[in-house]
Amino acid sequence: MTFKALYVDMQGENLIHAIKNITIDDLSDGDVIIEVKYSSINYKDMLAFKKKGGVIRKYPMIPGIDLCGEIVESNNPSYNIGQKVLATGFGIGVSHTGGYAQYARLQSSWITPLPNGLSLKDSMIVGTAGFTAALSIESLQQAGMNKSNQPKIAITGATGGVGTMAIALLKAKGYDNITAITSKDSQSPMLKSLGASDIVSPKDIIKDDNKPLRPQCFDYVIDCVGGELAAGLLTQISYGGAMSVCGNASGIALNTNILPFILRGIQLIGIDSVAYPNEKRLRIWNEISNAMEFIRKIPTTEVTLDTLVDRLDSIKNSTNTGRNIVSINNQ
Ligand SMILES: NC(=O)c1ccc[n+]([C@@H]2O[C@H](COP(=O)([O-])OP(=O)(O)OC[C@H]3O[C@@H](n4cnc5c(N)ncnc54)[C@H](OP(=O)(O)O)[C@@H]3O)[C@@H](O)[C@H]2O)c1
Repeated sequence: MTFKALYVDMQGENLIHAIKNITIDDLSDGDVIIEVKYSSINYKDMLAFKKKGGVIRKYPMIPGIDLCGEIVESNNPSYNIGQKVLATGFGIGVSHTGGYAQYARLQSSWITPLPNGLSLKDSMIVGTAGFTAALSIESLQQAGMNKSNQPKIAITGATGGVGTMAIALLKAKGYDNITAITSKDSQSPMLKSLGASDIVSPKDIIKDDNKPLRPQCFDYVIDCVGGELAAGLLTQISYGGAMSVCGNASGIALNTNILPFILRGIQLIGIDSVAYPNEKRLRIWNEISNAMEFIRKIPTTEVTLDTLVDRLDSIKNSTNTGRNIVSINNQ
């Protein structure tokens, strides 16, 4: 049997991509084979198509860090043929052939049974972006964020995948005091429809006077952007508050100072969705499935393996809003 897969490869100094007809033997090893129904496009997937994107660990590679579908072969008795599953992170689409193919062969220790109440398509609307947003919210709740106080919560990169998912998940949990920090003023109505109560421009946060502390404007922050915006926000977090950081859309630098930590007791929490332990994932996915009514309001663009590459530019040049899913075996 042959099937379609989207490859990236290095040819000399150039990164190329092509759809190829391949067989199961061309996939990385694993104990389950999944007929892929949907994948998604995350920021990291965009980097996979960039020369020196820093994401692909070996070439040639089938990118796609997220996938879902039905098991067609299983050497693990816990997973049955026909069972619906999803997978995100680990080595998928990076060092292990990923979701941009009609079939995937994975380690069963990387997959999660599809939670009740979630369709396969829903699971990819959520994808790594939504899973990361859920982990960010959980980390802030562990740091003291509680809806009974209606804390003031800021989200950077608000129109992106993680940002929109964070707003929808917070709203679903009953948080009402949500500030969306976005450079896309035109997307204010969309962000308000998801649950943002205020819209702020990054320009109002980033100051070039290097003040170590500023007025305390936000109790908690979910940051997807890094750089000057994250540094600016650290100086504006209220006493006892916290900021989770998951992204580096504006770069990896974080030039900060010690005073917000030692005078206001704030916390800075790193989020990693890739190696998050599999045994803890189903609980997070079950919580996400309870929020689908809110998540379905996020603008979502559907592409195919043939049209996927055309969609990458919107993520590269930061004009993307919401989520992008890839429909694969849905004829
Ligand atoms: N740690 C993890 O496990 C994990 C998991 C998922 C994602 N991430 C990271 O999180 C970040 C966001 O991912 P995503 O999927 O949400 O990406 P996305 O959909 O492309 O959204 C990124 C958003 O960030 C803002 N942005 C982009 N470039 C910027 C720049 N140069 N300066 C300031 N803001 C910029 C834009 O929002 P506005 O126009 O609204 O400002 C953009 O929509 C990425 O860095 C990604 O690698 C990490």
